[in-house]
Amino acid sequence: MNTDRRTLLKLTAGLLLSPLARGQASFPEPPVLKSREGLLEVRLKAAPTPVTVAGREARLWTYGGSFPGPTLRVRPGDAVRLELENLLPESTNLHWHGLPIPPKVDDPFLEIPAKETWSYAFTVPRDLAGTFWYHPHLHGRVAPQLFAGLAGAIVVESPVDGIPELREAEEHLLVLKDLELASGRPAAHTPMDWINGKEGNLLLVNGASRPTLRASKATLRLRLLNASNARYYRLQLEGHPLYLIASDGGFLEEPYEVPELLLAPGERAEVLVRFQKEGAFRLLALPYDRGVHMMGGMEHMGHGGMAMGTSQRPQTLLTLVAPPRPKPLPLPKALAKLPALSPNQARVTRRITFTEDMMAGRFFINGKTFDHRRVDFRGRVGDLEVWELENQGDMDHPFHLHTHPFQVLSVNGKAFPYRALKDVVNLKAQEVVRLLVPLKDLPGKTVFHCHIVEHEDRGMMGVLEVG
Ligand code: C2O
Ligand code: CU
Ligand code: CU
Repeated sequence: MNTDRRTLLKLTAGLLLSPLARGQASFPEPPVLKSREGLLEVRLKAAPTPVTVAGREARLWTYGGSFPGPTLRVRPGDAVRLELENLLPESTNLHWHGLPIPPKVDDPFLEIPAKETWSYAFTVPRDLAGTFWYHPHLHGRVAPQLFAGLAGAIVVESPVDGIPELREAEEHLLVLKDLELASGRPAAHTPMDWINGKEGNLLLVNGASRPTLRASKATLRLRLLNASNARYYRLQLEGHPLYLIASDGGFLEEPYEVPELLLAPGERAEVLVRFQKEGAFRLLALPYDRGVHMMGGMEHMGHGGMAMGTSQRPQTLLTLVAPPRPKPLPLPKALAKLPALSPNQARVTRRITFTEDMMAGRFFINGKTFDHRRVDFRGRVGDLEVWELENQGDMDHPFHLHTHPFQVLSVNGKAFPYRALKDVVNLKAQEVVRLLVPLKDLPGKTVFHCHIVEHEDRGMMGVLEVG
């Protein structure tokens, strides 16, 4: 949008937008499957499906026929029974990203062949709350399957949702997922995509391009999920700070005000938006350089200059329209209590390096490529561990650990500014990040990997066995 139009929009937002918005579909959100009387029972088909995306007909791979897949909404202590019916032309499986549940259930080594069905059953942990997600995790095929549309959110409700400052807020889910279509289907990966991670030219929020959300309340609670293969979102809301209230693994201790928020692939955040005035405000994805590799003469492979992570211009993800005469709620004072962990109590310190071989298009953790028969680390239930991650490469790598949520201690020696449970943490090139990892009473083999899923498929993954 050029400056003139932007100024005009700012000056006359109310006047200009109402006629435009008439007849426009309301803000789209994925269908919700909610637990009842302590049970969520779902039969979910993974299948090629005709859907409308950004106003076009496309044949994607979906869960339950929708893109993004249905939101599973549960409460702590609920029983979940999900039957996954694989109607894809290839094997798949399903990963419960961020849920601390037994690795035997959330098993990345499982293969569900085409035409077969698999049952997942577990109990939602008692002390859990937040925004999580599900997606395929079959090694070697994660990137094409996720890019084709297979992803959905999981919301775990909490008693904290009931405090007035949150209960009275208007809640929405924003699944940020980019896509590129070729002849009405998800575009295939190029050799460069397998190095950089695939980004699409369509920046979609809940499957829609630049939707408008007309708020009826002055305080919004937005649950944000980056379900993209490789795209980073440096989010900024015009004219407003964001109040971070939750990270990957649930609530912070208190709101943390930020001018902008970076969401790496796999990450989630919950933010409060507090409208102080009427108007229309764009949620922007600001330029972010994640060090993608440009090979000679291929700089322009990004489609319309939009696809690559190094895009120089802010892009509009959606427009928020404030209600008339907005009066936002006060900020919540206290949200959750998180354990104060100290590295002095840690029994084990691990060092983990990330390296790249760009020419070969391969990615390593501690110099090794993933091998499902190898155990890279063995840990003990109940131990506190320090993990020191070092990115020795030229690109960002978002580190992800299954099953055992962690706290970030420091980034390049600088203390992390707030206490939060996370399962994804970004590592910029040459950055060192220290984590505190309390190992849960969830024995078994689990994995850690880069959440640029192409890198994961290409071997940037290791095995942790806890016993
Ligand atoms: Cu969201 Cu191992 O992944
Ligand atoms: Cu995961
Ligand atoms: Cu990576």
